[in-house]
Amino acid sequence: MSFLKKTILKLVGRRKIEFLRSKPFLVHGKYRTLINDLEKYSDIITRSTGVDTAVSLLMVRKFGHILDKGLQRSDLERGHSGSIAGELKKHIEIAEKEFSDDPTLLWAKEKLELYNELQVNGLVTIKEQHPEPCGISLNDFALLLRNRRSNRSFQRRVVSSELIGQLARTVNWAPSSCNKQPIVLFATTDPELARECLKCCKGGTGFSDFVPVFVSFTADMRGYYLPDEAYVPAIDVALGVQNFLLSAELTGLSVTTLSWALKDIGDETRLRELLSIPEHNQIIINVVLGYPEKHSEAPVRKGPEHSLFLKGKVR
Ligand SMILES: Cc1cc2nc3c(=O)[nH]c(=O)nc-3n(C[C@H](O)[C@H](O)[C@H](O)COP(=O)(O)O)c2cc1C
Repeated sequence: MSFLKKTILKLVGRRKIEFLRSKPFLVHGKYRTLINDLEKYSDIITRSTGVDTAVSLLMVRKFGHILDKGLQRSDLERGHSGSIAGELKKHIEIAEKEFSDDPTLLWAKEKLELYNELQVNGLVTIKEQHPEPCGISLNDFALLLRNRRSNRSFQRRVVSSELIGQLARTVNWAPSSCNKQPIVLFATTDPELARECLKCCKGGTGFSDFVPVFVSFTADMRGYYLPDEAYVPAIDVALGVQNFLLSAELTGLSVTTLSWALKDIGDETRLRELLSIPEHNQIIINVVLGYPEKHSEAPVRKGPEHSLFLKGKVR
């Protein structure tokens, strides 16, 4: 430790220094940006909760999920989760003003009805679903995983918006925290606009001139507790991205992900403008896609000896 540091420590004291270090004016610029972002989204959440129908729809899914989870318990009995049911009822009433036909709202209403029936009768019949066999073997699925590649040169062939719509439907089938289904895609199938969007991404180098489609994967931030859940939007979105990538592979399209970690304020403003991304959607990652000109060779993957550590009795 330098003489200067030691002197400051002695004069001011460690506790005071720790306190001062936590103050915003002493936070390093990069951390400040992260904190600013979190504060911005926190403000947006506070402003919109209880008044915005779209936010209430997120909450409907969340409280519907909590109630549903309770209804599936093997030790199910009446007299629990009254406050959750109250929240769900409140948000259903707000969301219904605009989204009365929304399938997730109808689903949550059904759960609330079941819950109410349980409180009155002391028992309810909970439906079970027997999934249809999908007929895909683990070997076939592993082949799909291995065939997916980040290609960066695309054929001069447009991709239909309809196909992008089909792929978009796969993303919210990923698991999501409290079933909020927060992923929203902002996309263009116009190659000129896609090219402009790509320019906003620092990692957008080495691509062909022709880029058929650009998609920004965002999380609707209005359903999260911040700062506690600061990392959760990225997890929710990443799970949906993989659905999109693998589904695209099945259609002959190739998708390359583009990091958004190194964006600066100019990139953020420009991309939001180009794709009309609202302020309550956090951009998590972007992708470009098209029909690949060639399949690049796969980077070799590390083996399980470096990625799996089992403990306990070997079975
Ligand atoms: C979070 C994330 C960020 C990435 N960012 C970029 C990027 O900015 N530019 C790029 O060309 N590729 C990017 N990639 C693609 C990776 O380079 C690629 O997935 C990796 O090299 C493995 O190759 P494969 O996808 O063909 O299997 C990114 C991938 C991930 C998951």
